Amino acid sequence: MTNILDGVKLSKQIKQEIKEEVAQYVEKGHRPPHLSAVLVGENGASVTYVDNKIKDCHAVGFKSSLVKLEGTITEEELLQEIKKLNEDETLDGFIVQLPLPDHIDQEKIIMAIKPNKDVDGFHPENFGKMALEMESFLPATPFGIMVMLERYQIPTQGKNVVVIGRSRIVGRPMSILMSRKGNPGDSTVILTHSRTKNLEEYTRKADIVITALGVPHFLKADMIKEGAVVVDVGITRVEDPSKERGFYLAGDVDYPEVSQKASWITPVPGGVGPMTRAMLLKNTMLAYTRKFSLDS
Ligand code: GUN
Repeated sequence: MTNILDGVKLSKQIKQEIKEEVAQYVEKGHRPPHLSAVLVGENGASVTYVDNKIKDCHAVGFKSSLVKLEGTITEEELLQEIKKLNEDETLDGFIVQLPLPDHIDQEKIIMAIKPNKDVDGFHPENFGKMALEMESFLPATPFGIMVMLERYQIPTQGKNVVVIGRSRIVGRPMSILMSRKGNPGDSTVILTHSRTKNLEEYTRKADIVITALGVPHFLKADMIKEGAVVVDVGITRVEDPSKERGFYLAGDVDYPEVSQKASWITPVPGGVGPMTRAMLLKNTMLAYTRKFSLDS
């Protein structure tokens, strides 16, 4: 029988926990946590993501602010905005929504974010700390998957994990987290990607398959073993004129057939996505609690 890894239900629970924690700090006389989001240009998906991040802040009692910038802004001007956010003492963390317009060097922007405000966990200092098992901000999507595996008590120790996709914000950090010591973790991890030969040979041996490649319906039932745990990170907008919005959201997994064979599976939407959103709040809470203590 297949069980659902329900990201909607679990993220609600986590947001409730954060809300209660915030209330305790505010009761003690502290200001609430404050997250800022930088949005450059008008990319449709990015606008939606940022709107949702702001909504999530309000839902848990955080202060939020949105820095909306023209898509024509120069790299130098954007670096100036980041400098202001780095220096703003009233701000616990901020994110710069990606992708950025082509004329801006994304690497340079990420490098400019102060690591202790980098609640996306994208700065190399945070990435390095993650790899070295030091405390750091974890990138939200892999972090959300780790929390999901932990809360649903999915065994990971000694398990074979195959990650499909080596992006810097999902696949690669995911592979590192699953190979770290601890629970969840202690897995034997294979990180596969577009140049991997005979992918099915790896996926068929996997106890846990994590797909993060952005190709709708890519993972078929004959690519997994009976009872595997399947985590679908993909969320691609597929044009569909019959839908009111003109598109539907597709995962990387052929859900109708794979769900017949998997022991646990994340739906799309409603699986990894809501967990990702909740983890940005968790990272902001971490940035905040590093400054304040409930005892003071
Ligand atoms: N674009 C897609 N996912 C993300 C994310 O997690 N953070 C930021 N800043 N941009 C993104």
